[in-house]
Amino acid sequence: MQTEHTVLLVSADAELLDGAAAALGGDPDYRLILCRSEQEAATRLDALQAHLVVCDADLIADEASNVLVGARISHPHVARVLVGAPDAAEKCAAIARRAASYLYVIKPVPTDLIRLLAKRALELSELSRRHRVLSRELKISMDDDIFAEHEEFSVKGGRSQFEKLVYVSAKMAELCVEAKQAAATELPVLIQGETGTGKELLARAIHFNSKRMNSPMHVQNCGGMSDDTLHSELFGHLRGAFTGAVADRLGLFRAADGGTVFLDEISEISPSFQVSLLRFLQEGEVKPLGSDRLYHADVRVIAASNRPLDKLVERGEFRRDLYYRLKGFELHIPALRERPEDVPALTEFFIEKYAGVVGRRVVGVTKDALAKLQAYDYPGNVRELETEIRRMVAVAEQGGYISARHLSLAFERVPLHKPEAMPFATSGASLKEMVESLEKQAVAASLQRHHWNQSRAADELGLSRVGLANKIRRYGLNDA
Ligand SMILES: Nc1ncnc2c1ncn2[C@@H]1O[C@H](COP(=O)(O)OP(=O)(O)OP(=O)(O)O)[C@@H](O)[C@H]1O
Ligand SMILES: [Mg+2]
Repeated sequence: MQTEHTVLLVSADAELLDGAAAALGGDPDYRLILCRSEQEAATRLDALQAHLVVCDADLIADEASNVLVGARISHPHVARVLVGAPDAAEKCAAIARRAASYLYVIKPVPTDLIRLLAKRALELSELSRRHRVLSRELKISMDDDIFAEHEEFSVKGGRSQFEKLVYVSAKMAELCVEAKQAAATELPVLIQGETGTGKELLARAIHFNSKRMNSPMHVQNCGGMSDDTLHSELFGHLRGAFTGAVADRLGLFRAADGGTVFLDEISEISPSFQVSLLRFLQEGEVKPLGSDRLYHADVRVIAASNRPLDKLVERGEFRRDLYYRLKGFELHIPALRERPEDVPALTEFFIEKYAGVVGRRVVGVTKDALAKLQAYDYPGNVRELETEIRRMVAVAEQGGYISARHLSLAFERVPLHKPEAMPFATSGASLKEMVESLEKQAVAASLQRHHWNQSRAADELGLSRVGLANKIRRYGLNDA
């Protein structure tokens, strides 16, 4: 769904930044992201789908270890270009060699040249991408005889990507359309989904597709934090506001002025902090601890929760007014088991990613291994699949396939055909008996899905924990 190319320009040189903005800024084929430090560039490379990095040698302190050299290993498919001052030719040559950059250019760089450079570097990276795909297909077709007993799997470029989110399922495609619509507005966004479904990845994608993309996005995890700590993290404090406050702290809301704050595990904030946050969302005003002054912060809030907030609202555990404020857009990322079509594409994506990291060539995954990966129910969602693939890549043979014998125990044990659902009593039973039979199955299935995590099952079923415990006892369910 993304047609434009993303160019990261890493520089603190106003002339170069202005020149690039003039060359690419208004061009719909490009999205220009400005980074003023190597650190910022590294963070952004991890967060968004970049195609080209142009780095100013003036910002680079270490010829051997810097953002371009790092990108060669961590993001080998992103084209790399170096720009340097006329007296830095030697330094540029050394960095360009280590980073295997496409070329280096001496300043000043005219606008036309910037445009041409971007075009050529991107063409080259597209050509090398096609070369990789073709080589892989060739290798797979040549190996057909050797691997006659397996049918290997390849998505062959059929996957879609929204920044770093990879998918093929219609459910995710729909979600990404909604997320893009959300990104174009200024409304708060609430992202819900089980652990490991990609909530933070989606939040970053929204930020980098909003008009705030050139301002920071800060992340705050709200789980397991006292009110005072959370207050000072977000709203800041003055020196001496409480014991241990040895220096002033700006707070994330002010630090992210013009940008986005991502509040993770929002369900965990206390009732009194819910009031402070509601006030901030209504007024946009920040009062640091220990201060009488009010500051204004223009921040977009994206919140995430892996517990369904509507159920918490119904149970009186989360303020309804805050819930409505947070869900300007409400996005729900489906669990991986609800979209098994994504498993092959993600598997392929993670194989490429981790094979690149450890410098190992892995051709693909065998059909029986993939069938097991697809049949698994993923309580840890995409994170769990990613960890599994990462481990499998590390133990696979150089130039070989990932096969079922590389799977860890949990995956190996997966029955390939899910057992038939328990039939519930329909005939010869009273309505009460039928309802109870259905209820027993629903409770058992939810507990099984959540690996007997009773809080999660209770959340899913809309029961209190005590209510769930009563049903477990009543129906004699156990974790067998
Ligand atoms: N669709 C996807 N494509 C590629 N990688 C994904 C996708 N979804 C999740 N991941 C990867 O899975 C891991 C977990 O993602 P993320 O941290 O965004 O999940 P989360 O929903 O915030 O989890 P938690 O609730 O535990 O905080 C990350 O390494 C992320 O890169
Ligand atoms: Mg998260």
